[in-house]
Amino acid sequence: MASKKNKSNLDQVDLAKLFKNLNLIFIQPFVEIFHGLYSKRLPLYLCLSVSCFLQVIYFLGIDYLIIDYFGMAALYPMGSFHFFYKLFLVVWSPFLIWGFVQVGLKLRLIKRLTEVFLNAGLKSATSKLPAFIFDKPVDNYTRRLRVAKNGQSLKSFEGAKDSLESGLQVYIDEFSEDRRNNTVDIVYSHKQLEEHFDIKDFQEVHKNSFLIGKGRSKVLYGDLADTPHLLVAGQTGMGKSTFLRQFITSLYLNNKNYSFDLIDLKEGLEFQIFDKLPRVQVQSDVGSSINILKKLATKTIKERSELLKLNSCKDIDSFLKIPKNTRTYPEGVSQNIKLDRHVVVVDEAFDLFMAGPYADASSVKNSRQYASKIAAQGRAVGVHIVIATQRPDRFAVDPQTKANLTGKLCFRVPNIATSMTVMDSRRALDLPNIKGRAVWQNSSESFEVQTPFFGEDQAMEILKSSYINQKKEKNNSERSSDEIQGEEF
Ligand SMILES: Nc1ncnc2c1ncn2[C@@H]1O[C@H](COP(=O)(O)OP(=O)(O)OP(=O)(O)O)[C@@H](O)[C@H]1O
Ligand SMILES: [Mg+2]
Repeated sequence: MASKKNKSNLDQVDLAKLFKNLNLIFIQPFVEIFHGLYSKRLPLYLCLSVSCFLQVIYFLGIDYLIIDYFGMAALYPMGSFHFFYKLFLVVWSPFLIWGFVQVGLKLRLIKRLTEVFLNAGLKSATSKLPAFIFDKPVDNYTRRLRVAKNGQSLKSFEGAKDSLESGLQVYIDEFSEDRRNNTVDIVYSHKQLEEHFDIKDFQEVHKNSFLIGKGRSKVLYGDLADTPHLLVAGQTGMGKSTFLRQFITSLYLNNKNYSFDLIDLKEGLEFQIFDKLPRVQVQSDVGSSINILKKLATKTIKERSELLKLNSCKDIDSFLKIPKNTRTYPEGVSQNIKLDRHVVVVDEAFDLFMAGPYADASSVKNSRQYASKIAAQGRAVGVHIVIATQRPDRFAVDPQTKANLTGKLCFRVPNIATSMTVMDSRRALDLPNIKGRAVWQNSSESFEVQTPFFGEDQAMEILKSSYINQKKEKNNSERSSDEIQGEEF
């Protein structure tokens, strides 16, 4: 009885093995060819050229001559075999070889993954390992590996990052999970990020765009139209102010209708280099900073919103497209209303948003309220806020404000709690200790980047020609720019 049962188990195992092998030989190569054609990975022209070459050989009868030369003419396929010979070996063989190679590579990857997952301790209570689903390219340098979680949590994958990286000899950019399908995506690359990225000018940066940094395969840019407000976080000395310096300089130089309020309560030291620019105000005391935020959060947003509503426009861009003579203005709003984009940058949020040496409790309450309103309603009316901080917790940045800072650039942080607060994962904690290394995240993408180095001397050199020497001139210039309407939004 027992031996009968064993035999039927054995049959089942053999049958499963047989189907698996048949699938590998007769189905998977075609699946690979199909995917290869769809994703343009298959070297189509090479395969077609080889196929043409083989067909010429076939039509000239050279294949028969070769077989005959070795005395094996009897083996030359005849009858119905000849049809399969022509179809599969002559016409399709280059494609099939490519398909088989892909299957072989996949099997090798699966075997390697099994070893690596075992070594990394990613084994569930029922002894199951994560199961391979696919591995395909994202761009020239990065690939996406999808595995079925099989009882593992996203945290366990993140915790095993070092083992996975050394086992697979890759650099992992990101883990993300799909809870509905119980899968985890691992985005990885064989290429290390550069440790330094220099920037000389900003001619490559388009209007309304800003440079984020260099990823593994390309230089990344953001756009204030898609990502209107930013949070720049990270521990001391990792590159927040350096990033803000290049961000402000490039936006200033490439967008003549932008104006800036730069808030740095530590005597404005970080922003001194911008103080002599006509469209920039550097705020270094708490009173004037709050007044600026208040004006933007109340008067500016209110006036612009009413204007948009009256003209049935969704944002300032669409308003500026309306011919001037058909625009209507709400009561009390001048036709000369300045409609430039306005960018507020706060370097070190806790100086302004937490009671301490720079701000008292009531100032803090007001500044948090106004910042929150700008982050919530500024997008359509062209008012942007960028907040940099070492401490991205709820004490320094209001959770509601933070929810609206959709662009996040996070440098290395000292603990997992801070990383979770900004990125919702431990990615910022796992960043290498390299100045300028950060993770960029917005609603659609998440990449590790090396932000550009842009020193104060470089900024001064590039901005020198825009400086005005006399405060008086600056005031005049502000007045005249106040009279301009922001047509080139
Ligand atoms: N992208 C970069 N590439 C290379 N070095 C950098 C980069 N960013 C910053 N650094 C170096 O790190 C130093 C500190 O940078 P920065 O002042 O921007 O840090 P921070 O995050 O603003 O620090 P803190 O929180 O103390 O203000 C810079 O003086 C510079 O030498
Ligand atoms: Mg700084």
